[in-house]
Amino acid sequence: MPITLIVNPGGGLQGRLRVPGDKSISHRAIMLGAIAEGMTELHGLLEGEDTLATLAAFQAMGVAIDRPAPGHVRIQGVGLRGLKPPSQPLYLGNSGTSMRLLAGLLAGQAFDSVLTGDASLSKRPMQRIVEPLSCMQAQLQCTAASTPPLSIIGGRSLRGITYVMPVASAQVKSCLLLAGIYAEGRTCLIEPGPTRDHTERMLERFGYPLVPLENRVCIDGGGRLQGAAIRVPADLSSAAFFLVGATIARDADLMLEQVGVNPTRTGVIDILRLMGADLSLTNPCDEGGEPVADIRVRTSRLRGIEIPKPLVPLAIDEFPVLFVAAACAEGVTVVKGAQELRYKESDRIQTMACGLRALGIHAQATEDGMIIEGGTLTGGCIDSQGDHRVVMAFAMAALSASDPIEIRDCENINTSFPRFAEMAHSVGLDISVRGEG
Ligand code: S3P
Repeated sequence: MPITLIVNPGGGLQGRLRVPGDKSISHRAIMLGAIAEGMTELHGLLEGEDTLATLAAFQAMGVAIDRPAPGHVRIQGVGLRGLKPPSQPLYLGNSGTSMRLLAGLLAGQAFDSVLTGDASLSKRPMQRIVEPLSCMQAQLQCTAASTPPLSIIGGRSLRGITYVMPVASAQVKSCLLLAGIYAEGRTCLIEPGPTRDHTERMLERFGYPLVPLENRVCIDGGGRLQGAAIRVPADLSSAAFFLVGATIARDADLMLEQVGVNPTRTGVIDILRLMGADLSLTNPCDEGGEPVADIRVRTSRLRGIEIPKPLVPLAIDEFPVLFVAAACAEGVTVVKGAQELRYKESDRIQTMACGLRALGIHAQATEDGMIIEGGTLTGGCIDSQGDHRVVMAFAMAALSASDPIEIRDCENINTSFPRFAEMAHSVGLDISVRGEG
């Protein structure tokens, strides 16, 4: 049954919250654990639909995985050559990360495989991985429109390449690093700008160091991965909804516990601070090679800004909720250089501009971003296009709206943030769910 969220205006956002584990790190931990030697033990893993799709894919390839407690997962690694041919296509639901990273890993296997996804994933561009993987001598095919399903022919001898990446994409980089493990020689990637480096950090954790070269990310094929114990930090991309929510709420003081603050992810913190948000980081520590901190956020007045372009890839998943912040700010916010938003779970420029306009805000979509005039949010009805981050962004908008906001097509919240409504309610959001169960 379709799920609708109804969020009443007001609410304070007070207390403490630990949001679920980081999605990007969880995917990588499962993948590397599966092809490592020996046992990998994960705590704080995100058990959302996306990461469970990755987990199920490895189970379908013969990897023994048990889940003794929530967030606690044990993976009996099969080594680089130990995966078994899956008996049917691997269905990856809504998850672009699963598909693009797995494609790199599977390109180096002895067996054929097919990767499929839901309606949204089936529209997402795959040429960006098919092209460089083909240069590595992989053999794979997508549709004429460059979309899934992806058919991968195994038994190929991959060769390392140097690849100048046309788009800043951690999924493309990670796909090629995973293929690089199976390739002969060195695979080097030159990025147009920094993107999240969780794959690089996690390879180190599994005892597979990268080649330390300047201005490029390089891996030599033919090494081995050793199982590891990893504690996954809370996901900054999930925390971001509360960072904005508590900033725009009338009376908020919220502590988000043990959030991953890897500098390749903290664009949202930098952007919100430039807009005038009151965020402070305490209790810094290291969790499995990833920096972590508690983040305290309190109500503050935001001002519109021109978002510095270098921060865009470092906050790419946070734009839905940053657009909401901009709608609540005084003055105009301009986002440029964010064309990639058009290729996410929905076209996030289009979906967000429509939604903001439905709430009475002047939001002009541009080819590669948006121009938003801050104002007063009314209530209204939002079509989320089934995009989990759009849903959660508009749920937070209610904190500053004059009337209730009804958000349609919310099932996919479970891809990245199971129990979102319950957790948000526990700190003061007046949210209810229609159509569950
Ligand atoms: C991700 C990379 C980003 C991000 C996605 C997760 C990852 O995608 O939007 O949610 O885990 O590598 P792109 O590589 O397409 O920018």
